[in-house]
Amino acid sequence: MKLVTKITLWMLTASAMSFLACKHDPQAEVKPVLNNQNGNNNIVNDSVSFQTEILPLLTGNCAMDGCHNAASAAEGVVLDNYNNVISTAKVIAFNPAKSELYEVLVETDQKKIMPRPPSPPLTQAQIELVAKWINQGARNTNIIKCDTNTFNFVTVQKIITNACIGCHNNNNAQGGVKLTDYNNIRQHTETGKLLSSISHLPGSSPMPKGGNKLEACKITIIKKWAAAGYLNN
Ligand code: HEC
Repeated sequence: MKLVTKITLWMLTASAMSFLACKHDPQAEVKPVLNNQNGNNNIVNDSVSFQTEILPLLTGNCAMDGCHNAASAAEGVVLDNYNNVISTAKVIAFNPAKSELYEVLVETDQKKIMPRPPSPPLTQAQIELVAKWINQGARNTNIIKCDTNTFNFVTVQKIITNACIGCHNNNNAQGGVKLTDYNNIRQHTETGKLLSSISHLPGSSPMPKGGNKLEACKITIIKKWAAAGYLNN
């Protein structure tokens, strides 16, 4: 065999191997699912809660039409529930740097970073929370953390920034609704629309669209903030 042919064959084999290497089965790397609802825990105070902290972040910022809801599944990635997040965003427990879900958040290439501009990027605190969740084993934890005694605007805005902003920002105001600052959040709360849609009342559009209903305690916080007179506190 001529040297050139040998080299070509070697290159073909090498590229086929690296292609196969990418087609690994992500499920194989996933640690067993723990869920404190089943009494199966190891939950420590500092545990990140997948269901109440990470999932709302993903459905609110990534799981919209054209992106990562089940119907669109851009690049095969669906971020609407635990199993889909783990398998399609290739989460490797205890290893954020090797997890696609985290890599795209810290990507420096603007063409690859997620959420894609013009959607707003996640905040540093949100990105760190994702890393922490993966470092703790990327478990399907479900811990209710919110405290209904804290119902100031800062808390309300944090809930909305996590769960709603991907579809209600300056560049993408779905249904004509922006929820980016005190004035517009107050405006939509005063009309009653915001509360009826997060409470999934009949006649309203259930929000967050395509995501799980917010936990009762988060809804209570927004209701209490409204009842106390929409303070900018
Ligand atoms: C995945 C995208 C998406 C997310 C996330 C989302 N929304 Fe919406 N929202 C929409 C769309 C689309 C509409 C337009 C109505 C419709 O299609 O249901 C809408 C409409 C609304 C309306 C107007 C409803 C009405 O009856 O006129 C309110 C208020 C609202 N959203 C609040 C929220 C709040 C609060 C959150 C977070 C808890 C949220 N949305 C999360 C997509 C989203």
